Amino acid sequence: MTTPATALDSALTRRTFAIISHPDAGKTTLTEKLLLFGGAIHLAGEVRARGANRRARSDWMKIEQQRGISVTSSVMTFARGGTVYNLLDTPGHEDFSEDTYRTLTAVDSAVMVIDAARGIEAQTRKLFEVCRLRDVPILTFINKVDREGRDPFDLLDEIADMLALDVAPLNWPAGMGGEFKGLYDLRSHRFLPPDGTATGAAGEMVQTSGLDDPQIDNLCGPIASRLREQAELALGGYATLDGDLYRAGALTPVLFGSALKDFGVEALIDALAEFAPPPRPQPALPAAVKPTDSQVSGFVFKVQANMNPQHRDRIAFMRVASGRFRRGMKLRQVGTGKTIAINSPILFFAADREIADEAFPGDIIGIPNHGVLRVGDSLVEKDDITFTGIPNFAPEILRRVALKDPTKSKQLRTALTDMAEEGVTQLFKPAIGSQWIVGVVGQLQLEVLISRLEAEYRVAAGFEPSPFETARWVSGEPAELKRFIEEHRAAMAEDRDGSPVFMARDAWELNYVSQRETAIRFSATRERA
Ligand code: G4P
Repeated sequence: MTTPATALDSALTRRTFAIISHPDAGKTTLTEKLLLFGGAIHLAGEVRARGANRRARSDWMKIEQQRGISVTSSVMTFARGGTVYNLLDTPGHEDFSEDTYRTLTAVDSAVMVIDAARGIEAQTRKLFEVCRLRDVPILTFINKVDREGRDPFDLLDEIADMLALDVAPLNWPAGMGGEFKGLYDLRSHRFLPPDGTATGAAGEMVQTSGLDDPQIDNLCGPIASRLREQAELALGGYATLDGDLYRAGALTPVLFGSALKDFGVEALIDALAEFAPPPRPQPALPAAVKPTDSQVSGFVFKVQANMNPQHRDRIAFMRVASGRFRRGMKLRQVGTGKTIAINSPILFFAADREIADEAFPGDIIGIPNHGVLRVGDSLVEKDDITFTGIPNFAPEILRRVALKDPTKSKQLRTALTDMAEEGVTQLFKPAIGSQWIVGVVGQLQLEVLISRLEAEYRVAAGFEPSPFETARWVSGEPAELKRFIEEHRAAMAEDRDGSPVFMARDAWELNYVSQRETAIRFSATRERA
């Protein structure tokens, strides 16, 4: 990769995005194909194979296999035609919405994958809402057109109605399933037929002069007239692509395709290069950080422990928000003031982890560290900036951790602290009593926690019910807060940063206390200051 002269030039070539979808829509297959077309891997199937190897090494990942979900998040970088793509993988299960939410804070756009037979499903919709909250623009890929699917107009109307978005189809399928004859590009008039072999993979692109071109009859046979009719209706009936509306989150360009058979995948990569936004300004205090700002700054959106079980390493994933990062640079952790020399940052090229020499706005670098860096941290070269909008969510399930072997309490503490830093769990130390309380947003997180305690830390533990069901961070004037904490000592705890947390037996109690205590703020989310 050549290095353009300025950080701005380089930033403009970045497309940092995530794929959002419901499980089984084809995210893994599409990821593989994007990497394949991007030249990052040589054989489709390596993403899956690599995943399988990793799984074999670690017991807790069996849960992923059993449930067919992905609980780990990773970053894959590939380059094509002068554009550098950073693909951030989001875990697909609803229990992990918190992790997913944070990953989506680090992207500039998203690709929404929909199964042509199923349309918009629950998880797609939830993830879409998160994107909308942050004005993340969305490109839609309607996958599996090589199989019987729903009527294309139906699918487009569903997206428009359910998500309240304008849709702009960029291509049109000539039939689906057994009838499928290829894809017609509504803008360039190029037609992509199957290659004629039994596998039905994509063949060579054919340039036509338009829908009236007689080549269409040869390519589509009996369904040529249907393609003409539908494509004309689509061109007349739906919005035309408006890059500004898309980047504002009001319109989604739509591509039909088949990740499995390579239809529409190159068109998707090209669409990302052509319309998807380069790195956007990032919300921060005292002011938003522009990618053009000269000082290097970034924020940690994810921490992952034990990526390599042999080394107990911990990788903090930092999105570069501004400046030109160079290896060996020292960055300051805002808040603690600690300076960290980043000597072996990692760029996540899909083939392997690579040591990065430089990184630009939009890039993600992995920073190996021993637990200093936390989710939500801001890192700066000179001037203090605090990135905002990377929250912790109040847990919906609270449990006491019960050790099976009491001599392992030190290991338990290390393990819980590690996993709290990763964001797998929240950890609360009650003001009274010595048993840790863990808080999670979903039940599956508890299972992951127990499996990982055993697999990675050799700690056998279980959960006991806690007297509390819900928790809120509390804040207020120092004197008021002190009084509140004293009056509610039995229900108070501290989170891992020492911030006070009020735990309630149920929603009713929380409501009752919060209505009486007008001087105290009860927060369901907390951003690290
Ligand atoms: P996910 O990550 O979103 O959960 O989906 P994944 O890519 O694993 O795809 C789910 C299933 O859908 C897989 O089949 C995959 O091969 C299939 N699939 C993905 N894209 C297409 C497509 O364009 N056309 C067709 N026909 N199928 C597609 P599976 O049987 O569950 O797994 P496998 O045995 O193929 O690995």
